Amino acid sequence: MHLNAPTYGEQAMKPEEPFIKVEHLTKIFHPAKKRSLGLPGRKNGPPGFVAVDDVSFQVEQGQIFVIMGLSGSGKSTIIRMLNRLIDASDGSISVDGKDVRSLPPAELRDYRNRTINMVFQHFGLFPHKSLVHNVDFGLKVRGMDRETREQRAAEALELVGLGDRIHAMPDQLSGGMKQRVGLARALATDAEILLMDEPFSALDPLIRKDMQELLIKLQRNFKKTIVFVTHDLNEAMYLGDRIMVMKQGKIVQSGTALDLLEAPADPYIEKFVAEVDRSKVLTAGMLAEHHDPSPASRTSSGSFPDGAMPVSDTTFLNDLLPIFATGAGSVNVVNQQGSSLGHVTAEKVFEALSPKGFSNAS
Ligand SMILES: Nc1ncnc2c1ncn2[C@@H]1O[C@H](COP(=O)(O)OP(=O)(O)O)[C@@H](O)[C@H]1O
Ligand SMILES: [Mg+2]
Repeated sequence: MHLNAPTYGEQAMKPEEPFIKVEHLTKIFHPAKKRSLGLPGRKNGPPGFVAVDDVSFQVEQGQIFVIMGLSGSGKSTIIRMLNRLIDASDGSISVDGKDVRSLPPAELRDYRNRTINMVFQHFGLFPHKSLVHNVDFGLKVRGMDRETREQRAAEALELVGLGDRIHAMPDQLSGGMKQRVGLARALATDAEILLMDEPFSALDPLIRKDMQELLIKLQRNFKKTIVFVTHDLNEAMYLGDRIMVMKQGKIVQSGTALDLLEAPADPYIEKFVAEVDRSKVLTAGMLAEHHDPSPASRTSSGSFPDGAMPVSDTTFLNDLLPIFATGAGSVNVVNQQGSSLGHVTAEKVFEALSPKGFSNAS
């Protein structure tokens, strides 16, 4: 390949570095050092445990990047190296052009305060503060003026369905509502990057689904760059623009939900994929972007000549089925701004819903 040849079409237009760029990241945990007992360290001691093994990935601004894998596969270690709660053993981490591993203490503090925020599983609320002041707290710390931060907090609370209760106190809320406030607070901060380490794993399934939907909704508004860790492939596929699957510290496969479903890289991923409900994970937008990136068949007004029914890009395939049941041959997938992303045919949908190998079994 030519040294200057762009690998992706987007890179040709955007020559700058990816927002987060991780290369050959490695973490070796060494057993407790003898030195702490005043003894000299052994030269030929145990080699240490490789928790993260030569991991490289990139995250674009505004993406939800999911790290997925079973317990012990190194997910938390990766995410903690990104904000240097854990120091890497080898490799490089660049965020917005900064070399994270070599930030001096003052810059590291600034990076943790302003650029990258870790969201914890238990969104503890301040019991003596109203909802709006729980949410605007993170902004106050950063010196934003009162009016702006309260407006931003109210906007976030509106998005999670608590717009009429911004002056309520936390003890007036149910557990599920408190979770919503916590999520609103996480997304309303002005840190550009959010690190979320299995934030919903302890929730019961209904609240969990609710939180996943709210995260997408908040993300559309606040447009963070999110690194999200989960051991649940359904969650990974629902949330992730890209998914990186880990096993024993190594990357097994990296791609979109559709990439993983259509071409699982190994039996480990096949096993996960077999348990996924495709109809409730894949969206019209995923198929439109995947199969019809060129708007060649559009008229100048942006509509399709055959008047296919417009559907939102977030529509699950499950919800397209009734449309096709009426005899429609395709739908016109439109994004939030109302522009067409392309056609999705019934055939494409049925193909995407069939497990790999079903349609081309020999
Ligand atoms: N401080 C540590 N010292 C030694 N081993 C560790 C330490 N932290 C994590 N590990 C080991 O590294 C591996 C990866 O851990 P972790 O990143 O927490 O996995 P995950 O988040 O995917 O469950 C595990 O085998 C874990 O036991
Ligand atoms: Mg973990």
